[in-house]
Amino acid sequence: MSELLRLNDLKIHYPIRSGFFNRITDYVYAVDGVTLTLERGKTYGLIGESGSGKSTIGKSVVGLEKVTSGEVVYEGNDVTKRSVRKATKYNQDVQMIFQDSMSSLNPKKRVIDIIAEPIRNFENLTDLEEKKRVQEMLDIVGMPTDSLYKYPHEFSGGQRQRLGVARAVATSPKLIVADEPVSALDLSVQAQVLNFMKHIQQQYDLSYLFISHDLGVVKYMCDNLAIMHKGRFVEVGTREDIYTNPQHIYTKRLLSAIPKIDVENREQHKAQRRAVELEYQDLISDYYDENGRVYDLQDISSTHKAAVIHRESEGV
Ligand SMILES: Nc1ncnc2c1ncn2[C@@H]1O[C@H](COP(=O)(O)OP(=O)(O)OP(=O)(O)O)[C@@H](O)[C@H]1O
Ligand SMILES: [Mg+2]
Repeated sequence: MSELLRLNDLKIHYPIRSGFFNRITDYVYAVDGVTLTLERGKTYGLIGESGSGKSTIGKSVVGLEKVTSGEVVYEGNDVTKRSVRKATKYNQDVQMIFQDSMSSLNPKKRVIDIIAEPIRNFENLTDLEEKKRVQEMLDIVGMPTDSLYKYPHEFSGGQRQRLGVARAVATSPKLIVADEPVSALDLSVQAQVLNFMKHIQQQYDLSYLFISHDLGVVKYMCDNLAIMHKGRFVEVGTREDIYTNPQHIYTKRLLSAIPKIDVENREQHKAQRRAVELEYQDLISDYYDENGRVYDLQDISSTHKAAVIHRESEGV
């Protein structure tokens, strides 16, 4: 086991400006003190509802968001500093698949240039070699060869998302921050892309920081998970901890929201969902302080932590 990436009490606060003088009147606590360790070759899932701060963490890891305080430590170096990122291979080693494929792919460039761009930054290939590499990448994500000379607007959202995956893996990175990489895709294509991501993970010893709002989608991807709410982690643990022994009501809520396929137990699932909802309303003070803030994490076991003050509610 060796550590690849660590976030140390990371905070990202956005100023809110208002009034005639455009003064800072308050802050959005988008990320408010999160800590995690990602091992080499593993997948760490970052799960939470819309607005919980997932993309903000992802962007800060790749250096696109300024950190208010705390550290992003990659192979022992604090890469929140631009100079450190430049002095190491960080920008080549760490790639991101963006949530919004329309705005993250340059609309004026053809696919061949979009996918080759990160390669060009770090390698000197001839035109022919480059074309071959891009074709390989397209093949891997199941896009036809005639995509090479098309523009992003000529594709569907799901196809663009796959182009994003192809671009991210083109430089053989060590870590990919994958921000909702399959959310825009049909179920059948989701499985294809996830399988592919798992496949290249094993082949290249890749690590993923895998961002999603859906605990169902990430179940077979993640070795460890952090459940995020309002800029804080409400629960962290191994896949086993989170799926079989959830402690925080918010985690239970996300778990009960996973669509169930078996028709026979539908009524039972419905009842269970209602029970979780009632528990949420009843026991909210056990899980959030008077300002609605998530409590600090407490140890449940050596791998499992949850932001609870009472532990009277075991299981669902
Ligand atoms: N540039 C910004 N300026 C001010 N507030 C911002 C900025 N970017 C994000 N926020 C706020 O920070 C919070 C977290 O946003 P973020 O994009 O990280 O959420 P998310 O978990 O990725 O949500 P989603 O699932 O919808 O993508 C939100 O309340 C958002 O409004
Ligand atoms: Mg997001």
